[in-house]
Amino acid sequence: MPRHVAVVMDGNGRWAKRRGLKRTEGHAAGEAALFDTVHGALDVGLEWLTVYAFSTENWRRPVDEVRFIMNFNESLLLRRREELHELGVRVRFIGRRGGRTPGRVRRRMAETEAMTARNRKLTLTFAFNYGGRAELADAVRAIGHEVAGGRLDPDRISERTVARHLYAPDMPDPDLLVRTSGEYRISNYLLWELAYSELVFTDVLWPDFRREHLWDAIREYQRRERRFGAIDE
Ligand code: IPE
Ligand code: IPE
Ligand code: MG
Repeated sequence: MPRHVAVVMDGNGRWAKRRGLKRTEGHAAGEAALFDTVHGALDVGLEWLTVYAFSTENWRRPVDEVRFIMNFNESLLLRRREELHELGVRVRFIGRRGGRTPGRVRRRMAETEAMTARNRKLTLTFAFNYGGRAELADAVRAIGHEVAGGRLDPDRISERTVARHLYAPDMPDPDLLVRTSGEYRISNYLLWELAYSELVFTDVLWPDFRREHLWDAIREYQRRERRFGAIDE
C-alpha cells in the first residue's frame, strides 16, 4: 500500500464543456469526486491524501472563475467540515496563505485545520494557492533568514534542511501521483516531494473520478518496481 497519494484534480472545465455547461459547474461537480475519493482512501486505510485545488498559476484565469473557486472552496469547507471531522479526517492546507486569497477563505481554512487537528485516520491536504516553485522559494527565504541571523551555518545546509522548511515538513513524500484528464505533466505540483513518486495518468475527467479509479491507480502502483536509484540484486 502507498502511504501517501497525491492527486491533480484536472479536467473540470472540459467535463462541463462536453455537457454544454459553464466551466464553473465542472468545479462544483468535482466535489462529489473528491468526497468519493476520500471515502475510498478511508476504505483502504490510506494515511495521506493530497489534492491540488488551486495553483499559484490559476490566478491567471478569468476573474469570474477565480472568484467562483474561492467562494466554492469556502462554502465546501463550511458545508462539509463536520462530516470530514466525524470521519476522522485531519484537514490541512499547503500553499501561500497570504497573497490574493480572500481573508474569509483563509479564516475558514484555519478554522477547519484547528477543528480537525487531532484526527488521525487520514490527513487530507489541500494544495491551495500552491506552487512547487513558490514552496521552494519560500523555503530558501526562510533558510536565508536563519543564516543571516546567525542561527544556521550555511555549510550545514542539506537536503534535510530544505525538507524541514517546506509547508508541511511532517508530510511523507507521495508514493503515488495520480493526474486525471489525460494531461501528462506536473504543473508545478510538489516539485521537491515528487522526486521518486510513481506517476499514474488516467483519461477520466476529475468530476467522473470515483474511489474505484483511486483503487485502480493503487493497483497500478503495486505493479511498479521502485528502485530509488539503486539496483535490484
Ligand atoms: C482543474 O480543472 C481544477 C482547477 C485547476 C482549479 P480545470 O479547471 O483545469 O479543467 P480543464 O483542465 O480546463 O478541463
Ligand atoms: C493543475 O491543473 C492545477 C490544479 C488541478 C488545481 P491546471 O489545469 O491548472 O494545469 P495546466 O494549466 O493544464 O498545466
Ligand atoms: Mg486543467
